[in-house]
Amino acid sequence: MAVHPKEQRLILKYADEPGYTPHIDSYMEHGGYDMLKKAVTMEPQAIMDEVKKSTLRGRGGAGFPCGLKWSFVDRKSGKPIYLVCNCDESEPGTFKDRQIVHKDPHQLIEGIMISCFANNVAKAFIYIREEMPYGAKILDQAILEAKEKNFVGDNVLGSGYSCDIVVHRGAAAYICGEETGLIESLEGKRANPRIKPPYFPAVLGLYNCPTIVNNVETLCNAVHILDMGAEEFTKIGRPNNAGTRIWCVSGGVQRPGYYEVAGLTLGELVYDICGGPLPGRSIKAIIPGGSSMKILKNGERYKGKNPDGTDYNWGLEDIPLDYDGIAAAGSMSGSGGMMVLDDTVSIPAALANLMAFYSHESCGQCTPCREGSLWLKKITSRMVHGEARPEDVDLMLDVAGQIAGRTICAFGFAVAWPVQSYIAKFEDEFRKYAAHLSDPNADRQAIKELACNG
Ligand SMILES: Cc1cc2nc3c(=O)[nH]c(=O)nc-3n(C[C@H](O)[C@H](O)[C@H](O)COP(=O)(O)O)c2cc1C
Ligand code: SF4
Repeated sequence: MAVHPKEQRLILKYADEPGYTPHIDSYMEHGGYDMLKKAVTMEPQAIMDEVKKSTLRGRGGAGFPCGLKWSFVDRKSGKPIYLVCNCDESEPGTFKDRQIVHKDPHQLIEGIMISCFANNVAKAFIYIREEMPYGAKILDQAILEAKEKNFVGDNVLGSGYSCDIVVHRGAAAYICGEETGLIESLEGKRANPRIKPPYFPAVLGLYNCPTIVNNVETLCNAVHILDMGAEEFTKIGRPNNAGTRIWCVSGGVQRPGYYEVAGLTLGELVYDICGGPLPGRSIKAIIPGGSSMKILKNGERYKGKNPDGTDYNWGLEDIPLDYDGIAAAGSMSGSGGMMVLDDTVSIPAALANLMAFYSHESCGQCTPCREGSLWLKKITSRMVHGEARPEDVDLMLDVAGQIAGRTICAFGFAVAWPVQSYIAKFEDEFRKYAAHLSDPNADRQAIKELACNG
């Protein structure tokens, strides 16, 4: 894949270079494992301080500061500390971790080893999505190669530090990506998320021991923070949004794909890099960070106050493409899975599709999520099949409102936010379905066609 001139590649710097392979030789020819060599000569605390100073935020979804997460780990319990690399990549629209694993697995292994050394971890796991069997094979092979060179295993590089990495195939469910569900699954159980408190992974994680769960892309950044130093790292992107991000763009653009960028606007990614909408079409809305995130409508103004007190007033294309920019526009950058909906897309049909997914993926522990997601699937499905009832739009809002914030895990928000935001932004489209049905002479075939034609 050709690299666009507006990209700023750090994590995927070599991945798409001709001749670059997942083999350890390729990685080492490009300076691979030099940072692990450096790390084992450092004090672990110094590495933790550097990661904290870098202001690196998690790339898995919530954007939690990585150094802060590491500082919460219970180091006094006397129990072993585990590190789990979250490679479940289950959020619809997201396909960046797969690129790293398939094309540059040793970068991930080096990032894991540096992070493990910093946190005094002797055993790490890579929990990889079941549907990535090829990626699991690549990682197994890469770990073997790294062990042969003494980068993983006993007495790493003669430092006296030992750490093993185990690749664990996931259980093929969306909820396995939620960190406490993942931990349950890693323990061999059904991936039912745990209640926090008390089960904060940093204190009571895997086997009830302190555990760090970080995303693939987050862990890779440890290599670059050590390489360039925290101060340089913070110069990439805007303050509090340091480093690059790999965005996965799908849907109605001319050049969908993965792009690693920093400091751009949403418009620069979607129009300049991805080529904008297909000929004859226009962009209707964007889901910025994976299917769980609130939708952003084209044509709206996004207004508010910057931290320095000045005003911002953005169109969709002006939104800064980072955690704080997208949050200021009322959504989240989430997992970096950006879905572009053009003017041919019916928003109720898109929602019906999502609700079918979420109702299937609810683990079922919480009544509001289990029952609510199923009802939302039924209501949106009947809506796009010409069977909506006049009260359905209000009913959907009522059901979604009873899920959000009333569940064990954030999956509840993932169900509620699309419903609430799609109706808030496109209420007329939803009401159009319901209004047709209040007319006994309504042409049901025409309603069904609405689902296809918007
Ligand atoms: C329903 C659900 C699914 C998730 N799926 C993933 C996933 O596939 N990959 C991931 O890294 N994080 C996922 N997360 C976020 C994780 O719970 C966790 O916050 C993340 O792995 C932490 O890594 P980070 O701090 O490096 O971002 C998911 C969260 C929820 C609520
Ligand atoms: S919110 Fe949904 S997915 Fe999460 S624990 Fe409750 S039922 Fe399971």
